[in-house]
Amino acid sequence: MRARMLARIFSATLWGVEALRVEVEVDNSPGAFLTRVVGLPDAAVRESLHRVSTALQNAGFRAPTGRTTINLAPADLRKEGPSFDLPIALAVLGATDQLGSPHTEEFWALGELALSGELRPVRGVLPAVMEAKRLRAKHMLLPTANAAEAVVVGGIRIHPARSLAEAAAFLRDPEASPQPDGSNDPSVIDHPPELDFADVKGQLAAKRALEIAAAGGHNVLLIGPPGSGKSMLAQRIPTIFPSMTLDESIEATRIHSVAGLLPNGVGLLRQRPFRAPHHSTSDAGLVGGGPRLMPGEISLAHHGVLFLDELPEFGRNALEALRQPLEDGRLTLSRAAGTVTFPASFMLVAAMNPSPTGGFDDAARGKCTPAAMRRYLNRISGPLLDRIDLHVEVPAVDRQLLLRPEPAESSEGIRGRVERARASQAQRLSGRRKIHSNARMGPREIARFCVLSPACGNFLSTAISELGLSARAFHRILKVARTIADLAGREELREEDLAEAIGFRSLDRRIWGE
Ligand SMILES: Nc1ncnc2c1ncn2[C@@H]1O[C@H](COP(=O)(O)OP(=O)(O)OP(=O)(O)O)[C@@H](O)[C@H]1O
Ligand SMILES: [Mg+2]
Repeated sequence: MRARMLARIFSATLWGVEALRVEVEVDNSPGAFLTRVVGLPDAAVRESLHRVSTALQNAGFRAPTGRTTINLAPADLRKEGPSFDLPIALAVLGATDQLGSPHTEEFWALGELALSGELRPVRGVLPAVMEAKRLRAKHMLLPTANAAEAVVVGGIRIHPARSLAEAAAFLRDPEASPQPDGSNDPSVIDHPPELDFADVKGQLAAKRALEIAAAGGHNVLLIGPPGSGKSMLAQRIPTIFPSMTLDESIEATRIHSVAGLLPNGVGLLRQRPFRAPHHSTSDAGLVGGGPRLMPGEISLAHHGVLFLDELPEFGRNALEALRQPLEDGRLTLSRAAGTVTFPASFMLVAAMNPSPTGGFDDAARGKCTPAAMRRYLNRISGPLLDRIDLHVEVPAVDRQLLLRPEPAESSEGIRGRVERARASQAQRLSGRRKIHSNARMGPREIARFCVLSPACGNFLSTAISELGLSARAFHRILKVARTIADLAGREELREEDLAEAIGFRSLDRRIWGE
């Protein structure tokens, strides 16, 4: 009679955007038929057993007989999702002597099995491969559809398999697997090429604000009546965005990988994300979390733009939940098992009408009641407004202007200035990890890089006290002024930079009152 056999392989589970190592151990011994899973598996992992046993048979293997125990360790770690199908199936094959004597311990495996034995892509492959590499794993088995994001990491052998049978073959003979192509296709999430700032007539102040915002990563609120071009302006931001650094690209890709939103065959996102969730999006959909602990829109917008059109239509809870990420660049959620942190360093672009009826002075003109006006404006809290660096008026466009044939400045011209301004920031901030733009500077960087002459210092403190601005607003004005100087190609800050930055903080006073 056959003796008891044990097989072991590694896999990973997600915790936020981190992948954590999981050891998959399968023990098979003679005795009455019994299969059990231990180690805190969730419902999806339990379901995996049914898929695995059917897939094994359809792939031409024997389903296990006798007693089979599947252990997922460490036991106290939450394990979620269908990605354990492949490692469980492979460990079952090892424990039932169907693989010869492979070194399964050197392998990590991830993948969902179809009943036919084919492998389906799973989410979170990029962080899993990064973690495997960190722990010096040698081989990674995964579904072919996930290969592009896996090869981004380098330094670990990737074995892309189409089916369980293929994965088992690579486990027996690791040299047999095809080497995935290391060339990463650029992201296909592209802005439609027909969009260009040249289409937007007039609105020079709003365009200037968006140029500053894109150059320094500052938050911006566009306020204007219906049809003034707010949505039109915001949709064109991706056309003037600076390119992402490799670090930023990997971080953004990791989040899309965890959310299962990487398009097939895309290894790295090359373009900054532009997310425009509708105001009917659930709170969890917007900020993240929910039962499956998924990144929300604010994290998908990491290193890019979160565009909230019709800002007051968003739920109050959702808007208040933006406050922490707007300040820290990340969202922390508490769960029974501990806290999870999702990166969420995005540039907020919001648009709204100045009144429920649309016009700037509608309450004064009797078009809406002052109470209705209050209710409408109160949906946007003071602390949220305080976190928006640039408040911009977008007035109704002059009809004469719309008829003018000559196009405005193209996105390409604006983008050139934005790129140059980013390049000087990158140089100045090199050596500061995780800070790539003026908007992300902390108090230490502000003290060092936004040095004011005595005259400028007086100018700013007078403005701050006259406008009754907060300490937060003070720091934010300095950062915007830094970007304005960078756009002008200057290292020193001048009074004119401060004046322009302060000007972007006065519209809210006119609309919301003191
Ligand atoms: N400055 C402009 N130059 C050229 N076309 C414009 C301009 N402003 C508005 N338009 C035209 O008007 C349309 C409506 O603009 P848009 O949807 O951006 O307005 P909005 O400010 O977002 O309005 P709402 O408050 O109703 O959402 C545009 O699609 C465009 O055709
Ligand atoms: Mg609009």
